Amino acid sequence: MAAASVCFLLLLSVLFCSSRAKFEPNWSSLDSRPLPAWFDQAKFGIFIHWGVFSVPSFGSEWFWWYWQKQRLQPYVDFMKKNYPPDFRYQDFAPQFTAQFFDAKEWTDIFASSGAKYIVLTTKHHEGFTLWGSKNSWNWNAVDVGPKRDLVDEVASALRAHSNLRLGLYHSLFELCPELYELITKYRPEVLWSDGDGDAPDSYWNSTGFLAWLYNDSPVRDTVVTNDRWGLGSICKHGGYYTCSDRYQPGHLLKHKWENCMTIDRKSWGYRRNAPLRDYMSIQELVAMLVETVSCGGNLLMNVGPTPDGRIPPLMEERLRQMGRWLQVNGGAIYNTSAWRAQNDSQTPNLWYTFRPQEQTIFAMFLEWPKNGSVVLSEPLVTPGVTQVELLGVGPLQWVTAAPTGLRVLLPPLPVSEMPCEWGWSLRLSGAS
Ligand SMILES: *[C@@H]1O[C@H](CO)[C@@H](O)[C@H](O)[C@H]1NC(C)=O
Ligand SMILES: *[C@@H]1O[C@H](CO)[C@@H](O)[C@H](O)[C@H]1NC(C)=O
Ligand SMILES: *[C@@H]1O[C@H](CO)[C@@H](O)[C@H](O)[C@H]1NC(C)=O
Ligand SMILES: *[C@@H]1O[C@H](CO)[C@@H](O)[C@H](O)[C@H]1NC(C)=O
Ligand SMILES: *[C@@H]1O[C@H](CO)[C@@H](O)[C@H](O)[C@H]1NC(C)=O
Repeated sequence: MAAASVCFLLLLSVLFCSSRAKFEPNWSSLDSRPLPAWFDQAKFGIFIHWGVFSVPSFGSEWFWWYWQKQRLQPYVDFMKKNYPPDFRYQDFAPQFTAQFFDAKEWTDIFASSGAKYIVLTTKHHEGFTLWGSKNSWNWNAVDVGPKRDLVDEVASALRAHSNLRLGLYHSLFELCPELYELITKYRPEVLWSDGDGDAPDSYWNSTGFLAWLYNDSPVRDTVVTNDRWGLGSICKHGGYYTCSDRYQPGHLLKHKWENCMTIDRKSWGYRRNAPLRDYMSIQELVAMLVETVSCGGNLLMNVGPTPDGRIPPLMEERLRQMGRWLQVNGGAIYNTSAWRAQNDSQTPNLWYTFRPQEQTIFAMFLEWPKNGSVVLSEPLVTPGVTQVELLGVGPLQWVTAAPTGLRVLLPPLPVSEMPCEWGWSLRLSGAS
């Protein structure tokens, strides 16, 4: 009896162990891991670049590099004019106060944007960690500046909000100990790696780390990573592809990808000297989301908080506007797949998505046509069967178009009765 149950337990554990894929520390094995499904469903996330570079808030989050390594004139002049000659980059850290920072307020803003995940810079290339890393003595937010564990505050506020997932950005310098620390302490579901410094993945032991992440870490079932794990890995190895900053291929990719971009076109970190024209308009942002999702990507839209912990009101407005647009049009974005055509061959600025569960096609158009009708030349339609609906309004009339597709007759809505601005979505059922 006892022997039989021991055998049974052994058998169970063999079955259990062999059903769990064990990844090897090499790319062919790691690249075979299916991306956890939540990421493709989420479509929209928020990137946050925050750190000591937010204090000078001049030029770029690469401030230190441009000032003292490249000695770019505007940076050198800025320092000469405003700081004593012996001022060091490290002297900015005490002014990184976070005095107005309230993670709950940030979370409310993020939730109102319709984003499903956020990615916080826990450490940019200058090495300052936003958590009390034991591997970054006196160059972290608990020892200097805010004297608070900012990663913990963001992580806790997000966890209290069931709809938002935590992602952490980490620059590879200072090697692996910090990565293990971040994963075990904060359990992120996105790990956004960057900053390989042109060293190969073998230098960083990236495959060794990823094998641990996928096999044994506390987030092994849900975590997703990107492709920045060493020279040559970008757009080729790892989890989803980023390929470049502001990547926008304009066509469908077979591999899951993400377009990381920033509302302030010229910087990821906060810039006090950014003029309004450098901020993307909500029309541009909606257009970017639509094209990105249609081509199989996720959009990761960046904001740069101030050193005292506020999200600049103009960036907050963009986030809230995106949320308003998604409240009407989210059905065409979240949980969708790429359709067989991404854009329309007749009508410019018109992008398609598809919901396989319901066999519905979505057509998002970015300009309201002056003549009151929009032509969709890609779908195959059947009179009496195909139904068309404008999201936020209701069913619409349509007629067949030549040579293919349909012409949808839009209602003459006054601006005050538009369901949304900046872009509209048609939902087609009974079409293919
Ligand atoms: C990589 O891992 C796979 C297991 O998925 C193994 O079969 C293969 O031999 C490994 N390749 C190298 C080069 O180590
Ligand atoms: C690389 O990572 C693996 C997995 O964590 C670890 O076992 C191994 O010791 C690391 N190799 C080096 C050279 O640090
Ligand atoms: C997307 O799919 C997930 C998993 O099936 C579900 O939990 C979620 O509610 C869906 N979201 C939307 C907006 O349809
Ligand atoms: C889709 O848009 C791209 C530009 O984004 C354009 O080059 C291409 O011709 C369009 N495809 C169709 C079918 O119109
Ligand atoms: C309406 O304008 C669109 C372009 O906005 C054009 O493709 C379409 O042919 C026009 N329809 C009519 C009936 O003129």
